[in-house]
Amino acid sequence: MCGIVAYIGPREAYPVILKGLKRLEYRGYDSAGVALLNSGLKVFKKKGKVAELEENTIGKDLHAHIGIGHTRWATHGEPNDRNAHPHSSNSGKLAMIHNGIIENYAQLKQELVRKGYHFKSDTDTEVLLNFIEDIKINNKCPLEEAVRIALKRIVGAYVIVLIDQDNPDTLIAARKGSPLVIGIGKNEHFLASDASPIIEYTKEVVYVNDYEIAIIKADELILKNLGNERQTPFITKLDMELAAIEKGGYDHFMLKEIFEQPTTIYDCLRGRLDAENGTITMSGIQKYADQIVNAHRIVMVACGTSWHAGLVAEYIFEELCRINVEVEYASEFRYRNPVINKGDVIIAISQSGETADTLVAIENAKSKGAIILGVVNVVGSSIARVSNAGAYTHAGPEIGVASTKAFTAQLAVLTMIALKIGYEKGTLPHDRYMQLARELEAIPEKVTALLQQHEHIKQLAEKYRDARDFLYLGRGYNFPVALEGALKLKEISYIHAEGYPAAEMKHGPIALVDETLPVVFIATKDSYHEKVISNMQEIKARKGKVIAVINEGDEQSIKLADDVIIVPEADEILLPMLSVIPLQLLAYYIGVSKELDVDKPRNLAKSVTVE
Ligand code: AGP
Repeated sequence: MCGIVAYIGPREAYPVILKGLKRLEYRGYDSAGVALLNSGLKVFKKKGKVAELEENTIGKDLHAHIGIGHTRWATHGEPNDRNAHPHSSNSGKLAMIHNGIIENYAQLKQELVRKGYHFKSDTDTEVLLNFIEDIKINNKCPLEEAVRIALKRIVGAYVIVLIDQDNPDTLIAARKGSPLVIGIGKNEHFLASDASPIIEYTKEVVYVNDYEIAIIKADELILKNLGNERQTPFITKLDMELAAIEKGGYDHFMLKEIFEQPTTIYDCLRGRLDAENGTITMSGIQKYADQIVNAHRIVMVACGTSWHAGLVAEYIFEELCRINVEVEYASEFRYRNPVINKGDVIIAISQSGETADTLVAIENAKSKGAIILGVVNVVGSSIARVSNAGAYTHAGPEIGVASTKAFTAQLAVLTMIALKIGYEKGTLPHDRYMQLARELEAIPEKVTALLQQHEHIKQLAEKYRDARDFLYLGRGYNFPVALEGALKLKEISYIHAEGYPAAEMKHGPIALVDETLPVVFIATKDSYHEKVISNMQEIKARKGKVIAVINEGDEQSIKLADDVIIVPEADEILLPMLSVIPLQLLAYYIGVSKELDVDKPRNLAKSVTVE
């Protein structure tokens, strides 16, 4: 998820663009850049936040009335100066910014290299820009036409905005799958990823639709589709305030990120999982597939929510790959002088890629000969760089301190790795592999359906918000989900909560149960269901209050529980990506009902980069 801003009109373009980029930094902050057109094309770009770009342009000639700007969330190519946007074409006459992923960029790059094109960056964006330039030169056509032709060959999602030194009075933009808003001013136009950079100048906007191309002058906006047919711009009036726009209309980043999960899980699978043909493409993992297949041991190393993802992965890898898996708290693993044998595979799981304990734990393991695979969200982060290989979770920036969309994205990546390894190892039969691949592909739409229950969960939050303690219980794949649900509640509402394997109750914790104690059961239909029902009966017998996360039609649980939350059915290996979501929402709504700062809970940091 990147932030894009562009301007054309009577104002100085640079200050408008810079201020707009600062408003969009919640969408990404790996690097930032601006391209301006005034007696030639000038590009200024820098790794780091927008403030670093600002510092880097002091004293430069920034006068221009047309320009494009970008704040990056890296997907292809590490965060650094040369991978920062805007990119300029081989001729130096075109500059472009891009938000999205071009899935077929590698093939296009090969074609262009064969034609003599050279590339300064590792990005898919630079490939698309030169692909457009190549068409413009060979077809001797206007830039808008070259863009139209090029986009017909593109696979992936994009918003692009281009400026052309030979046409300094025109911006060309196009979108598919990523957002683009055009602000309509008096003899001026503003473009951005959302309305937050625009709203202070105008409340009249056009939301560009997929497959539309915009040709924008200071006093004219033309929209066309890829069939070159004029489209009528539909002007709407903004009714949101700035703060709400940055959160996409949600009250908090955490809620926005919970609701982003259908998209983020889809983005995680996109370009990798092809369920129809039964292929899983993960180049980083492929390089080490033999070592993983032949590994005697896999160690998952992580902290917090990422550690819970590792626990789910332990069950999945052992079931599908029949490899011994251990899950270690990074802080313990790094100080314990663990036994590491050459060929051991360590999977480091981290949203930020900067968690100090995880980073040092894998550096130590690597020095002892282990292979390190990173499952990380932030491209180019320290853990990603130390890892021998890995797979990014493509969840986009996670602003809320409580990890939500990163967790389900981690599960999606780890499931794909286990499917790939299990199938290559021969421990996962073809039919089961294909069934799981199909079911994994269907998860995003199941999450969408599940999120419709948010009002019901909000009512449950009101009902139980004053409890002093909570217990979360689950078995098998849902045991780590119980731990994750308890962590979410603790860190967002400051209510004490503990997660346990449901069978552990009789070994002590059941002494806590009385009529004041809510117990959340994850009781979905899986191979442990009957046993979880008996655990539910044990709690009810002691007057505990039961909230059960169940599948449709589970009459036993409905009879026993005080409240239920229905989640769609899925293979038990995939259930955690569903059963965790009501728990994320429950924690969020309880925190909100207690008027706490759910995006920035007390005592917590988004990334624990110190010991
Ligand atoms: C989860 O909600 C917490 N914010 C925290 O436990 C987090 O998961 C942990 O600090 C690990 O962070 P990482 O995934 O960035 O390594």
